[in-house]
Amino acid sequence: MVQRRADSLDRSKFYGVPIAGFEEAGRQQLIFLLMSGLEPNSKLVDLGCGVLRGGYWIIHFLDPGCYHGIESHEQRLEIGRRTILEPSTLEAKRPRFDTNTNFDTGVFGVQFDIFFAYSIWTHASKHQIERMLDNFLRDSAPGAVFLTSILPADWRNPDYQGTRWFGTSHESDVAGCIHHDLQWVGRACRDRNLRMRKVGIERDGQTWLLICRDQDRNLLFRTIWAESRWRRLAQRLRRRLRSA
Ligand SMILES: C[S@@+](CC[C@H](N)C(=O)[O-])C[C@H]1O[C@@H](n2cnc3c(N)ncnc32)[C@H](O)[C@@H]1O
Repeated sequence: MVQRRADSLDRSKFYGVPIAGFEEAGRQQLIFLLMSGLEPNSKLVDLGCGVLRGGYWIIHFLDPGCYHGIESHEQRLEIGRRTILEPSTLEAKRPRFDTNTNFDTGVFGVQFDIFFAYSIWTHASKHQIERMLDNFLRDSAPGAVFLTSILPADWRNPDYQGTRWFGTSHESDVAGCIHHDLQWVGRACRDRNLRMRKVGIERDGQTWLLICRDQDRNLLFRTIWAESRWRRLAQRLRRRLRSA
């Protein structure tokens, strides 16, 4: 169903995410959110929601009026609203959207329980990441969490120092991903009295981070690991041997 609708899109264009595996990758976002404490009445903002790959599932799960999406690429957002989402779901769930380019969550006038940015910090500049963290402090409710994904920098993938978004967007057709130094992210969080925790790693290395206010300890799970303990141990040993 969702996959079939994604498959029907004009393949000569790029929609910000792969069409192959569209349905599964979107559903996985909902699973991670559920494991991070998403409830039907959670107020959620999906930063860079694109064509609603994850938004589709999140909108279905949430109560009416609880989903908020920010996407700067107006055509992508329209494809999500008109092609990916069913008209009846759009009407019943009343998701709200905005196309501002500053990740400005204040436009909705809501104190959010969940900030969500999947495959966004893998393109965003440090300045944009800091702005999202500042907006989290300003526009989130007590006990809120910020769930995001990142590609950690290492000796093969240097820390991104650019000042602009890297990848396709409302102003670029050039695809690409960047890496950020996890220690820098940790510092940016600590400077704002936020706590950051790694909660899982996908096969492509994309790492899930869960961020919350220092005093909040309401997390459902301490850690959600996508890999088995032995595989993680082997990876850690390999990393240590490499850096020795
Ligand atoms: C890699 S896609 C991820 C989309 C979605 N989160 C998902 O996982 O399917 C990144 C999205 O961020 C959007 N984007 C780029 N710059 C943005 C900005 N300044 N504000 C909001 N969204 C932006 C892009 O247009 C693109 O749709």
